[in-house]
Amino acid sequence: MNIVLGITGGIAAYKAPDLVRRLKERGADVQIVMTASAEEFVTDTALQAVSGRAVRSNLWDKEAERAMSHIELARWADVVLIAPATAEVMARIVSGGAPDLLTTICLATEAPLALAPAMNHVMWNNPATQANRAVLEQRGVHILGPGVGSQACGEEGAGRMLETDAIAAAVFDLGISHGEGLLKGKKVVITAGPTRESIDPVRYISNRSSGKMGYAMARAAVAQDAEVILISGPVDLPAPPGVEVREVTTAEQMYGATHAVIEDADIFIAAAAVADYRPVAPAEQKIKKKREAMTIELVRCPDILASVAALDGGPFTVGFAAETERLEEYARAKLVNKKLDMIIANRVGADRGFDRDDNAATVFWAAGERQFPEARKSELANELVELVAERYYALRGTGTQPRLSIISNKNRRT
Ligand code: PMT
Repeated sequence: MNIVLGITGGIAAYKAPDLVRRLKERGADVQIVMTASAEEFVTDTALQAVSGRAVRSNLWDKEAERAMSHIELARWADVVLIAPATAEVMARIVSGGAPDLLTTICLATEAPLALAPAMNHVMWNNPATQANRAVLEQRGVHILGPGVGSQACGEEGAGRMLETDAIAAAVFDLGISHGEGLLKGKKVVITAGPTRESIDPVRYISNRSSGKMGYAMARAAVAQDAEVILISGPVDLPAPPGVEVREVTTAEQMYGATHAVIEDADIFIAAAAVADYRPVAPAEQKIKKKREAMTIELVRCPDILASVAALDGGPFTVGFAAETERLEEYARAKLVNKKLDMIIANRVGADRGFDRDDNAATVFWAAGERQFPEARKSELANELVELVAERYYALRGTGTQPRLSIISNKNRRT
């Protein structure tokens, strides 16, 4: 993995040489890019010695730019990691400013961006920093940490940079492709998010799905080199890099958009929370509150997942089961009734499953099951997609299964 390691001006920069060692131990090639403030905390001599590459810091260094320009560096990177990441660099990246080499690379790269924040806990908790963190996460930037504990300033709180080994592990857990992923050459169609079913021009029936799980599945499938089409209900998430997103609103539209692309798909993953019912006849004008009570007649929406599973020669079909009780019983019933190859069961409720960054799941298929403990949806998705690929090849794989290349260190197989 080619890693551009950005180092910014925080006291945790003194840990950078150790972080470089940890990344290199895992096989990474590391190119360091320091800001001017970082040079106050750690020397480029030490960093050059551990990385084996000349440290870059100046956007206007003609000699270095001739060897590898900032644009070439941005293209070379499989991931841009900034550790430590100060409040200042977070704000710069949010604003799109590019006053130095590091922020220019951040703007010019298509590689995933990961930040390991490190700062005083009051700075971390400042609403401005938290707003920047939220925007960065919205844009798909991976925020690693920070940790909680004693700080260099003598105070306690959230803001410590994660330990170097944890950062290195997290970077290799992002699911960044090397081009030899498990799903290379496979077309994967994924549904995500909620649907909205109109009651009248201003009201609708929907649910609490944020799309985070489905989008994470899409990112994980791309990381395994699949061609991914994401059929998305209305969500507030950026399109994952490398994914073709088709936006829909209603269950009917999601059904149509899915069937428009499913014919040559190898795998279908239904992570969307599709409405089961819609109003029979949405009112043309806003309904006025004339009566004390009212009834809305509902009719069943098409079951997208079951319809794909029923296709002759259709794709390997994976459903999700969102359950508040009797998880296994209900999930297994859906597996059988909808004739699925696999079902990913997750508990949902006011405080779990929907619209959260973490999730846990149990996966069932005809002859087996596997549990996945609570983890960030991005990490869980990496593991789930690995399992989907494993089961896909077990059931359908007539050709050669690519070697597992990346994804999680925990489950690394060769
Ligand atoms: O989006 P997040 O906030 O990240 O939350 C994630 C999630 C909880 C929505 C996700 O993990 C999940 O469980 N998605 C499936 C939600 C759901 O509708 O489950 P279900 O048990 O009601 O439906 C079973 C399966 O049938 C699902 O794969 C669903 O996509 C599919 N279905 C359901 C109804 C329908 N009309 N068409 C369908 O395709």
